[in-house]
Amino acid sequence: MQKPVDPSIIDKVEKLRRELHRHNYRYHVLDDPEVSDAEYDRMMKELQRLEAVYPELEDLNSPTVRIGAPPLSKFDAFAHSVPMLSLDNGFMDKDITDFDVRVKRFLGSEDEVLYTAEPKLDGIAVELVYEDGRLITASTRGDGSTGEVITANVKTISSVPLVLREESQNPVPALFEVRGEVFMEKENFKRLNDMRLSENQPPFANPRNAAAGSLRQLDSRITANRPLDIFVYGIGIVTDIVFNSQWDLLCNLKSYGFRVNPLIRYRIDIQDAIDYYQELNEMRHQLPYDIDGVVMKVDSIEFQKTLGAKSRSPRWAIAYKFKAEQETTQIQSIEVQVGRTGTLTPVAHLKPVNVGGVVVSRATLHNEAEIEKKDIRIGDTVLIQRAGDVIPEVVKVISTKRTGEERIFKMPGNCPVCGSQTIRMEGEAAIRCVNTSCSARIKERIKHFASKGAFDIDGLGDKLVDQLVEKDLLSSYADIFELKSESIAGLERMGDKSTGNLMESIEKSKTVSFARFLYALGIRHVGEHVAAILASRFQTLEEVMTASRDDLEIVEGIGPIVAESIVRFFRQDQNIRIVRQMLAAGVHIQYEKEKAPGFLEGQVFVLTGTLEHMTRGQAKDSIEALGGRVSGSVGRNTDYLVVGKSPGSKVDRAKALGVRIIHEIDMSLLLKGGKHGE
Ligand code: IVH
Repeated sequence: MQKPVDPSIIDKVEKLRRELHRHNYRYHVLDDPEVSDAEYDRMMKELQRLEAVYPELEDLNSPTVRIGAPPLSKFDAFAHSVPMLSLDNGFMDKDITDFDVRVKRFLGSEDEVLYTAEPKLDGIAVELVYEDGRLITASTRGDGSTGEVITANVKTISSVPLVLREESQNPVPALFEVRGEVFMEKENFKRLNDMRLSENQPPFANPRNAAAGSLRQLDSRITANRPLDIFVYGIGIVTDIVFNSQWDLLCNLKSYGFRVNPLIRYRIDIQDAIDYYQELNEMRHQLPYDIDGVVMKVDSIEFQKTLGAKSRSPRWAIAYKFKAEQETTQIQSIEVQVGRTGTLTPVAHLKPVNVGGVVVSRATLHNEAEIEKKDIRIGDTVLIQRAGDVIPEVVKVISTKRTGEERIFKMPGNCPVCGSQTIRMEGEAAIRCVNTSCSARIKERIKHFASKGAFDIDGLGDKLVDQLVEKDLLSSYADIFELKSESIAGLERMGDKSTGNLMESIEKSKTVSFARFLYALGIRHVGEHVAAILASRFQTLEEVMTASRDDLEIVEGIGPIVAESIVRFFRQDQNIRIVRQMLAAGVHIQYEKEKAPGFLEGQVFVLTGTLEHMTRGQAKDSIEALGGRVSGSVGRNTDYLVVGKSPGSKVDRAKALGVRIIHEIDMSLLLKGGKHGE
């Protein structure tokens, strides 16, 4: 018979869980952490360790569930107890004042009705069901009456409370159905796409798709690595408490530990709600997340009940949508641009058109396959769209506007700038110019080198780079550091003052972080994210320059394509020469602080099978943080083979080579600084 767990251990586990829930709330909801990240991680690791040793203390709402659970084979259906309705849309002020008139007429009221105005988040609607304060089920909206169960995925979202806070003025209800929107912040979306591109995975089209794709993963451990967030705004069934107003409801949701949008305006009249819409419309691009309008809700819950709902939407709310950032215009010509890595990109020159306040005259057509798929021709009338800060693109051709005068566009067989041959790499949609000294490529490389995330050279703008290359004053970015003020001074728009300023910023830029330096080189697939990874994993530039594919591939976040591209870059003499030239000209790389040698210094780990209590990435990070290294294959220099569930053939090889084999739990202990089972 199993021995009961010592009460002091139970206390310890419960205390850790309570504390971690609280710190999580302070960090993700209040944005006011009480402890450092390191302290939080330490507590989380301790809890993970205890839960691994005492599986009988399992808790489906433990803070450790945020790392995800084993994959499902399908999503179960979930019937919402109260349908998740949709909203009526308004597109101009009159739609909103008409709505207000309808509301008053229905209520038989002459008095002003008060509203709550909320940003309409462009994400995915979800329902969270809490029983006795614990999150039991999370589901998608689906068709409004039936959605899909995505509980394990939603539990990985840090701003979703797993257990409701008891500090609320109200008791925790026996049943509490909360509704809100899961979304991805724009910055996080960009970072995720950068990472996907560097791993040769298709990028998501927008943050909404990224959020939807991340939520609909059968393997919640994938969701756990996606930066999702939530704001809640409504309820289904709630027992034990009654809310008087939307304001009262949102305040309570906050005190139970939910994230409620801080921009919500409470109890305002319809004119103020319309003004608020204008305000948000102007600042929407500055917000960290996408919104597509404002939802206006009658504040009084009693009024909401009287008003009720039509078949699909409530009578007490309306969504005032922002103007669609789409417009129709005509393609006047198609130009082919040559990028830094030689990629030929077709760009449409448009009849200028105002799209959501910005005049657009160009749109990217991506590549030849995209042009063929959408059947885009010169002279076509097209629907274009602008989403956030990305380059406008053509959504579709308005084929009813065809006159027969339109011309089919073919990509040129040669580079439009230098005339060299072009090639299409296998498995790629893009065509590339093969000439590394193509002047277009040189210009783009230098512009990238001087850009904000790289050397950040103030005053070295695109027009100036074009001139400097055309006048043969620059043939690579290394030449920047040998520029003389005499040669710049005569150039267009370059007076003494701007020349002096430019020389000064070039000088200042010479001291640069390792990550920026690597990013600036313009290696294919090495964006800011990959550059940061390289800079943190390699001690010196020399190490990166001489790294083999294998050395690179064992680094978390570096896939085979990125590794190949880095090796290829440093195999070219010309690139080595340019790097040496920069260093000789006084460019000084600031390396990340020497990592404190941990007690795993020099130890090599290999992982096999599925780890149950942490992801491979987390295991790798923890090992590396202590000075150890994770390798992909078992060899004579391997110190430990860590086996998870369903291990592979590595076990046999380890046995043959006499490599020490340990289990996941032993590794957790080892990482804690304890001794592993011999
Ligand atoms: S209230 C009965 N509030 O918009 C009221 N919805 O077009 C139904 N949405 O499915 C929803 N932000 O996904 C509400 N502050 C907000 C919202 C919001 C975004 C979404 C939600 C809903 C859709 C309706």
